[in-house]
Amino acid sequence: MYICILGRQPEISFAELEAVFGKANLKHFGKIAVLDVEDISARQFERLGGTIKIAEVISNDWNDIMSFLPESGKAVVGLSSYNTNLNAKTLTKIAVAIKKHRKSVRFVPNKKSDLSSAQIIHNKLIGSDNKFEFILAEADGAKMLAQTLYIQDIKSYSNRDYGRPRRDAKNGMLPPKLAQIMINLAVQDTKSRHDLDPSKKRAKPKTIPVILDPFCGTGVVLQEAALMGYNVYGTDIEQKMIDFTIANLKWLSASHKVNFFEKLEVGDATKMNWQPVMDFVVAETSLGKPYFVEPTIEALRQNVKKCNKLVEKFLENLYSQIKKDTRLCLAVPAWNVGGKNYRLSIIRRLKDLGYEQQKVSAKPLLYRRKDQIVGRELLVLKKVKKTAKMEDKKE
Ligand SMILES: C[S@@+](CC[C@H](N)C(=O)[O-])C[C@H]1O[C@@H](n2cnc3c(N)ncnc32)[C@H](O)[C@@H]1O
Repeated sequence: MYICILGRQPEISFAELEAVFGKANLKHFGKIAVLDVEDISARQFERLGGTIKIAEVISNDWNDIMSFLPESGKAVVGLSSYNTNLNAKTLTKIAVAIKKHRKSVRFVPNKKSDLSSAQIIHNKLIGSDNKFEFILAEADGAKMLAQTLYIQDIKSYSNRDYGRPRRDAKNGMLPPKLAQIMINLAVQDTKSRHDLDPSKKRAKPKTIPVILDPFCGTGVVLQEAALMGYNVYGTDIEQKMIDFTIANLKWLSASHKVNFFEKLEVGDATKMNWQPVMDFVVAETSLGKPYFVEPTIEALRQNVKKCNKLVEKFLENLYSQIKKDTRLCLAVPAWNVGGKNYRLSIIRRLKDLGYEQQKVSAKPLLYRRKDQIVGRELLVLKKVKKTAKMEDKKE
């Protein structure tokens, strides 16, 4: 049994975990999820964009912490608490009480009730015999003591974001973590999720699923897909963006020693023919006008209309080119103006276009900072038969 500490947007992180490990194995409690599986590998963890830490449950009694500490010799311990009413002060009291019995234990000082990834890395609390992070958590009234096994590699994410040779502020930049989440949401726990070792030579490209991003921009989705072991196909209406993606994927392949097949070409997603057929579609469509101050409702209306049209035309064009049941994950724009949320109206008509929205969460999956006007809504879709209404219209 494991405790997963969820990222900034817990609903999205939980949906990703459900996609990867299956609904039956998971329970959600605010900022944490309890995952009931036998084993979890570092590689499985690295492929998750929305989970910050994973800790293995070692007892259902917080007092058992003493039995996991060495009787003699130095030890360094970090304490974090999730989903409990233990605050930083109470954790310090617990640390003082433990120190009375184990004088050689040093506790990592903390002003908060949980340690950040940077604190854990700095104090080397993972992968060492005498350094640990223990988590005190509560779920469904049950207490859990857990030891942290994995934390997100912040250096690697930062390198995959800021270390790339080509970035483009105008088109916005999808965080690599969000790209991973979107890939996981599209693929789900289908048989295509076999663990693909990205460093292995891909002798048989046909046996490896292809992820298409028809709005590839600087190529963040393709980069993360390649790292997860997929082959990639990217298209964009601008030659400049294709050149950027070529440079970025060349950098990725050299710096991360990954081996993958790629196809990149210029094309308008509302008209083009993709060859050959792809297995999954993952894309951040154009987010429309960037807003730094709130627009008038009329200006917003015009912008929403334009974004709606682009997504509609793209989905119409894609429909006949993908097999039934093909899964997509799209990040489309969603706005917050005057405290009100605005979504693309096309979301209500997806069925008419031949796509079924997958119920991956009770609420819309919105990815947006509190003060942001333009955020992203994640849509997880599956190609289905078009409804009669749409077929009639065509005749
Ligand atoms: C929000 S950006 C995507 C950024 C991308 N996720 C990245 O990692 O850099 C949207 C991209 O869609 C492209 N685009 C806009 N309209 C398009 C169309 N009709 N067909 C194909 N690409 C289009 C833009 O050139 C831009 O690169």
